[in-house]
Amino acid sequence: MRGPFFLITDHLNFVYSHPICYPATMRPSLIIHGGAWDIPDDAVDACKAGCLRALHAGWSALKSGGHALDAIQAAIMVLEDDPVFDAGYGSHLTLDGHVECDAIVMEAATLRAGAVAGLRRVKNPIRAARAVLEKCPHMMLISEGAERFASQHGVPLCDPEELVTSAEREAWLRCSKDSHAAEHHRGHEQGTVGAVAVDEQGRLFAATSTGGTCCKLSGRVGDSPLIGSGCYADAETGGVSSTGYGEAIMRVVMAKTATDFLRPASSTPTRAAQAAIQLLANRGKGTGGLILLDKDGNPGFAFNTPRMAYGYVKDGTQFVAGV
Ligand code: GLY
Repeated sequence: MRGPFFLITDHLNFVYSHPICYPATMRPSLIIHGGAWDIPDDAVDACKAGCLRALHAGWSALKSGGHALDAIQAAIMVLEDDPVFDAGYGSHLTLDGHVECDAIVMEAATLRAGAVAGLRRVKNPIRAARAVLEKCPHMMLISEGAERFASQHGVPLCDPEELVTSAEREAWLRCSKDSHAAEHHRGHEQGTVGAVAVDEQGRLFAATSTGGTCCKLSGRVGDSPLIGSGCYADAETGGVSSTGYGEAIMRVVMAKTATDFLRPASSTPTRAAQAAIQLLANRGKGTGGLILLDKDGNPGFAFNTPRMAYGYVKDGTQFVAGV
């Protein structure tokens, strides 16, 4: 952001305009989620603790003038590494027993996004999405092509089995012997992680990462990596990350719609988030949640599932996490 122009006279008596750059024009802000789903009582503490760890990682990158993109990557990597959440390590398995991850990151100033889908060999899919955002002429890559691009740009590949937890393998085995059912996954039928941050310089980014739905067909892509559905960021309105039943979220293009709900002067972040979830229920016929920051960094969230794991930094000092 540029400050006002001052007239300065130098020793040659030459008058020119000189832009004054203020070091800090925005209060940084960060909000994250660990998915909207029927979180069982015995997973509540683990979800809350994971959200707090992610908030601290993101805030360490954001405070003292850090970049919003580094902050959301740091926060999401913590959530991807935590097996209580359905992203990266601990993702749900497909019907044929593999992890297939999707992720996206979007820059509000340019409306550019980097998205990846169907990754089997990337431990932190958010890193692959960022590589696409920063280094690729395209906005979305899938499966082997996405993995090759990520690897060529410094993102390490792993053995696909490194992403599989014993809990998810057991849930998959129970579903294979019986038929797919939420109770085989302790109610953990949906889930995704996300983050939205704005930094001191007003740079706003949003991101989403997921293992998708359990027992999905191989090759199925949900809302998460789709610009406008799983994530959206526009400097004129704000940034959103979605979670929930992907097919329903896609029907109402929920993330973009939520940012549009921020446009009226009478809108607030909470009202915009609630209106988007109402639309998800009424027209999308589905369940889920979302987090958002408006363009000034004010947080909002809403969900119509029994619970959602979320966290945000209040007034730059207080770390709030809830389930
Ligand atoms: N929202 C995650 C998915 O449906 O894939």
